[in-house]
Amino acid sequence: MALIECRQLTRTYRRGNEEITPLRDLDLDIESGGFVALMGPSGSGKTTLLNLLAGIDRPTAGTLSVAGKPVHNLPRRALANWRSAHVGYIFQLYNLIPVLTAYENVELPLLLQSLSRSERHDRVATALEAVGIEDRHEHYPRQLSGGQEQRVAIARAIVTEPTILLADEPTGDLDRQSATSVMELLAQLNSEQGRTIVMVTHDPRTTEWADTVLHLEKGRLVEQAVGSERP
Ligand SMILES: Nc1ncnc2c1ncn2[C@@H]1O[C@H](COP(=O)(O)OP(=O)(O)OP(=O)(O)O)[C@@H](O)[C@H]1O
Ligand SMILES: [Mg+2]
Repeated sequence: MALIECRQLTRTYRRGNEEITPLRDLDLDIESGGFVALMGPSGSGKTTLLNLLAGIDRPTAGTLSVAGKPVHNLPRRALANWRSAHVGYIFQLYNLIPVLTAYENVELPLLLQSLSRSERHDRVATALEAVGIEDRHEHYPRQLSGGQEQRVAIARAIVTEPTILLADEPTGDLDRQSATSVMELLAQLNSEQGRTIVMVTHDPRTTEWADTVLHLEKGRLVEQAVGSERP
């Protein structure tokens, strides 16, 4: 059984009389421990799919199971609890909270869980160390470089030890060197901690760290082995 199973997953957006269906009847299996890169033109539904996998949004039709548990039909509160336990989400623009320090930003998702203060402290310190930010605990986001902000955002996404790590263009706003170091970090979380990763990317260079590259086009997925497009 695959860790993530999508069957005929469909999402339709309605605005007035207009209907858009960026995802239609999508079938997708992602194995535990996989590192999937998701590519496709702007507007092809990549973020829509990621948001469904994250339980941030719900499908209009079809089913989504993670680790054998149906997620698509969970009531709102149960879905929020499921998300808090199983999903780490990394955004393109980090989305750190400006008035909180690096430490407090990473601690935030743990406040939804029943952990003691000292357990929280250990988890936050471990996550910040894993991303190489152990010496910036008291810094605010504006006092960090873009690459460091993204590392803090990754620490925030992994601090809950999620089942799946979702990333929407995690290197989209970074220079080449910071992008490479963020990709190496994701690859390490995948290979050493066994985190299953689904990453949206526009940059073909970032796909060399993935084991599967999926192309989304007009609601259809085309799977390719890594390297098959290279000369
Ligand atoms: N909340 C919404 N309401 C209405 N339409 C939406 C909504 N969210 C997305 N869409 C539409 O769904 C389509 C897919 O959007 P999506 O954000 O998934 O694209 P994407 O592949 O992530 O694109 P990009 O590479 O530009 O980020 C677009 O046509 C978009 O306008
Ligand atoms: Mg997008």
